[in-house]
Amino acid sequence: MRAVLVAGNWKMHGSLAANQALLDALKARLGSRDGIGYAVCSPFPYLYQVATSLAGSAISWGAQNLSEHDVGAYTGEVSGAMLREFGCRYVIVGHSERRGLYGETDQQVAAKFMAAQRAGLTPILCVGETLEQRDRGDTQAVVGRQLEAVLNSAGVSAIENAAIAYEPVWAIGTGKTATPAQAQGAHEYIRGLVAGRDKSLAAGLSILYGGSVKPDNARELFAMPDVDGGLIGGAALVADDFVAICEAGATH
Ligand code: PGA
Repeated sequence: MRAVLVAGNWKMHGSLAANQALLDALKARLGSRDGIGYAVCSPFPYLYQVATSLAGSAISWGAQNLSEHDVGAYTGEVSGAMLREFGCRYVIVGHSERRGLYGETDQQVAAKFMAAQRAGLTPILCVGETLEQRDRGDTQAVVGRQLEAVLNSAGVSAIENAAIAYEPVWAIGTGKTATPAQAQGAHEYIRGLVAGRDKSLAAGLSILYGGSVKPDNARELFAMPDVDGGLIGGAALVADDFVAICEAGATH
């Protein structure tokens, strides 16, 4: 059985006080259960608070970005080794906001993916098409290109210690969720692409869905055979919603 992961992406939200209330609620309500992992990915400055609060709990944590370099004169950047020092297990790479707003290329995302693994982190690699690309019938071409850039650089074996998040750009923060069938279609395609290189790694790969996952749609999305959890934005900031989504994941 594949591991299910429900990961929160806080994006650039939070404050020490708001985080503490959220972390305390999550810690009190999410106990460890077989076959499912939970994580929160906070902004860099809050990692110490998150690490201190969640140590010894059932919830892992991570960051939302990292440098592709390991060390050096890169003003403003944060390395994977630094994230490990704060106990991060995961790091999101290639989120559509990084690709779209900050110009991250497929090659840069691949370099970040490899930097994460060099540091002992598990990358959550985001892929997904825009509405225009979907309407043109290019969903598979776009997702395939994004994924292959990483597979070609890192090698398929790198997939063993990674998760992929399919996040259609048109569904992120818009309240427009992909239908379970649309999500399943993309996830199946992603798994098939990996299977073309290594069947057993593909079978064990956790593929998360992200894009307006809420308590009222999580269950039907997570019920799809190739949807192994979710990457949750807005709803990850509300304890009741995130807990409800995690519970939906536990029934996958
Ligand atoms: P959303 O964000 O759940 O607010 O749509 C998901 C994400 O960007 O990871």
